[in-house]
Amino acid sequence: MVVDNAAVKYTTRDGVAVITLNNPPVNGLGHATRTGIVEGIARANSDAAVTAIVITGAGKAFSGGADITEFNTPKATQEPTLHTVIKEVEKSAKPVVAAIHSVAMGGGLELALGAHYRIAAPGAQIALPEVKLGILPGAGGTQRLPRAIGLEAALNMIVSGAPVPSEKLAKSGLFDAMAQGDLLDEAVAFARKAADKQGPHPLVRNRKIEHPNAEGFLQFSRNTVGAMSKNYPAPVKCIDAIAAGVKQGFDKGLAYERECFVELVQTPESHALRHAFFGERAASKIPDVPSSTPMRDIQKIAVIGAGTMGGGITMNFLNAGVPVTLLETKQEALDRGLATIRKNYEAQVKKGKLTQEKLDARMALISPTLSYDDLKQADLIIEAVFEELGVKEQVFKRLDEVAKPGAILASNTSTLDVDKIAAFTKRPQDVVGLHFFSPANVMKLLEVVRGKDTAKDVLATVMQVAKKIRKTAVVSGVCDGFIGNRMIEQYVRQALYMLEEGALPAQVDRAIEKFGFAMGPFRMSDLAGNDIGWAIRKRRYQEHPDMKYSKIADRLCETGRFGQKTGAGWYDYKAGERAALPSKLVDEMIVAYSKEAGVERRKISDEEIVERLVYALANEGAKILEEGIASKASDIDMVYLTGYGFPLWRGGPMLYADTVGLYNVARSIRRYAQQPNGDAWQIASSLAERAENGGSFN
Ligand code: 3HC
Ligand code: NAI
Repeated sequence: MVVDNAAVKYTTRDGVAVITLNNPPVNGLGHATRTGIVEGIARANSDAAVTAIVITGAGKAFSGGADITEFNTPKATQEPTLHTVIKEVEKSAKPVVAAIHSVAMGGGLELALGAHYRIAAPGAQIALPEVKLGILPGAGGTQRLPRAIGLEAALNMIVSGAPVPSEKLAKSGLFDAMAQGDLLDEAVAFARKAADKQGPHPLVRNRKIEHPNAEGFLQFSRNTVGAMSKNYPAPVKCIDAIAAGVKQGFDKGLAYERECFVELVQTPESHALRHAFFGERAASKIPDVPSSTPMRDIQKIAVIGAGTMGGGITMNFLNAGVPVTLLETKQEALDRGLATIRKNYEAQVKKGKLTQEKLDARMALISPTLSYDDLKQADLIIEAVFEELGVKEQVFKRLDEVAKPGAILASNTSTLDVDKIAAFTKRPQDVVGLHFFSPANVMKLLEVVRGKDTAKDVLATVMQVAKKIRKTAVVSGVCDGFIGNRMIEQYVRQALYMLEEGALPAQVDRAIEKFGFAMGPFRMSDLAGNDIGWAIRKRRYQEHPDMKYSKIADRLCETGRFGQKTGAGWYDYKAGERAALPSKLVDEMIVAYSKEAGVERRKISDEEIVERLVYALANEGAKILEEGIASKASDIDMVYLTGYGFPLWRGGPMLYADTVGLYNVARSIRRYAQQPNGDAWQIASSLAERAENGGSFN
C-alpha cells in the first residue's frame, strides 16, 4: 500500500501520526490527496506505536477545499470521495485532530469538521465558500457547521461564503483549542492527551442543533435570501439542505445535501462562476511573460492630470497606502481635483465606511505639484490628461526628459494609439497603457495595453501593481478601443440599427436588462454622455468612411440631448433625479427618422434584441482573439464581467456563446446578415470554423 504519495506526507512524532496534505498551491482535495489521507489513517490505526493522528497542511493552507479543476471529470467522483475520506476519519479508533492554519475552506473545513478535535492557529481564514462557485458544501458542511457553531451563524457563513478569521470563532464550538505558539507542536501534544481519553471520541455529527424557532428562522432566511439571489440557484439550496438536516436528522440531511450538490454542479450558473474564478487568475498570466520575469521596484507613484480619471486613479493608490505625486498644469485644476478626492472620501465617512482618521491619512499621502521636477523620483507615472494626441505628445516628451531611467510611463488613453504615444519618447519599452474605467476608484477592470515595444518586465510589474490595488487586470494589444470598447461599439451599433428598424430605447434596454445586464445601452449612454460616442463616430466617419452607422444618435446629439448631464438624452430626466423616463419627443424623432430613411418599422422581439446585442459582442470578441489582441477567450469574458456589467451568472459573452452553442450563434449571425443593415455582420472566421467543427471558445 502506497502511503507516502506525493500529495500527502506521513510522518510520526512522539507516537502521533502526522498526515500532512502536500498538494500545492492550496492543498486541494484532489483524488491523490484523498487517497493519501485514507491510507494514512489506515496506516496509523494499524501501527501499535501510534496513539493518535494529526491532519494538517503544508505551505500556505490547511486546505482550500475540493480540487475545483476535477469538477465534472471522473476523478471528482472516483473513490475515495471526500465523503468516504471523512467517514474514515470519523471511524478512526485513534483520535484525529485537525491542525488548522492559514486557510480552511470548503472541503478543507468539511474534512476538519469530520475530525474528532480541531485546533486552530489565529489568523486562519475559515469559510464554506462553495456558494460563490454556484454550488453548496457537498461533504457535510451544511450539516456539521450548524452543529458546530449554531444554526444562525452557520447559515450566514454558508449563504455568504465569506471567510471568518479563526480567532472570531474561538469560542464558537468549532475549535477545541486555539494554538498559542507552534501549531504542530501543540496539535501533537493535544493529540497525545486525547489518546489518553476513553473512546469513542466525539463527533460533530452527534451534536444537536439548538434553536428556539428553527422553522421560523429558516423560512425567514429562505424569503430574504431568495429575493436577493434570484439568478443564482445555490443560496436557497444551501438553506434547503440545512433545513433538511434540522428537520430530518443528520443522515437524511447529508443525503439531501449530496443530491443538491450533484444538481448544482451541473448548472450553467455554477459553470459560469467557476469560469470567472479561473478566468480572473488566468488573466494575470501572460503567455510569453513567465512568472519568473523580474519585476521593477515600484515605490513612488505619480499621476498627471487631476480630472475625473486622474483623481480616481490616485484614490486607488491612496487606498492601498501608497503615496502619490499629483501633477496639474494650473493651481485651480489641482485644487479642484484634490477637493473632488476629498469629497469622495467624505461621502464614505458619512456612510460609515471610512473613519475621519483614515480620510486624513489618505489625503496626507498626496503630494500635489505643478512642477515636473517633482516626478524625477517616481517609479511609475500614469498620465490622465485630455484625450488629444498633441497634449499626450507634450506630456510624454516632457516625461522622457525628467523621468529616471527605468521608470514606467503609462497612459490612461481610451482611444489613442499607445504605440504612437510610446514613440514620443526615446524609451518605448517603458511605455504601457493602463486603461482604467470610470469611476476609477470603484471599477474592478484595468486593461493593460501592451505596445509593440513594451518590455516584458514592465508588463509583469504593472500586473503586480494591479493586484496590489485590487484590480482585475487584462492584457490587450493595441487596437482601436482595445478589447472592451472595440466590442461595445458593435453592440451599440446594433442597438442603434434596431431603433431605426422598429424598436424604441426603453424596449431595447428592458430586454437586455432582463437578460441580466446592469444597464441597457441607452441608459448607459445617457449616463456616460451621448457626446462621447458622437465624438468617436465623427472621427470614424473620417477614418473609416466605409463603415456604416445609423445616424439616429447623431440626430439626438444635434438637439443637445447629451444625457443625464443635460437633463435629457434618450430619456427625459426630472431635475436632480436619475430615473430614466421614456421620452415622447425622442420616440417620435426615431419614428420620423425611420420614415425618412425609407425603413418600414417592424416589431422586433426581445429575443432578437438580446441575440443581436450579445452576438455582436461575441463576434467582435472572436476577431479580437484571431488578431491576438486578447490571448484567450476568458480574458474577454473578464473584461465584460468586471467592466461592462455583463451578468456574472452567464460567464461573459464568449462563454455565453459557447453555452448557446457556436453552431446556433453562427446561424443567427448569418440570418441577421440577410436583414436590412445586415452588412454590419461579418462573421468572424474563428467563430465560423469552431461552429463548423463543433468547437468552443473556452
Ligand atoms: N481547487 C483547485 N485549485 C485551486 C483551489 C481549489 N479549491 N483554490 C485555489 N486554487 C488555485 C488557484 O486556481 C490558483 O491557481 P494558479 O496559481 O494556477 O492560478 C492557486 O490555487 C492560488 O489561488 P489564489 O491566487 O486564489 O491564491 P490566494 O492565496 O490569493 O487565495 C484561496 C487562496 C483563499 C484558497 C483562494 O484560492 C480561494 O478562495 N480558493 C477557492 C476556495 C473554494 O472555493 N473552496 C471550495 C471548493 S469547492 C468544495 O470544496 C466542494 C466541497 O464542498 C465538496
Ligand atoms: P478630464 O478632463 O476630467 O481631466 C483631464 C485633466 O488633465 C484636467 O484636470 C486637466 O487640467 C489636466 N491636464 C490637461 N493637460 C494637462 C497637462 N499637459 N499636464 C497636466 N495636466 C493636464 O478628463 P478625464 O475624463 O479624466 O480623461 C483623462 C484621460 O483618461 C483621457 O485620456 C481619457 O480618454 C481617459 N479615460 C477617460 C475615461 C472617462 O470615462 N472619463 C475612461 C477611461 C479613460
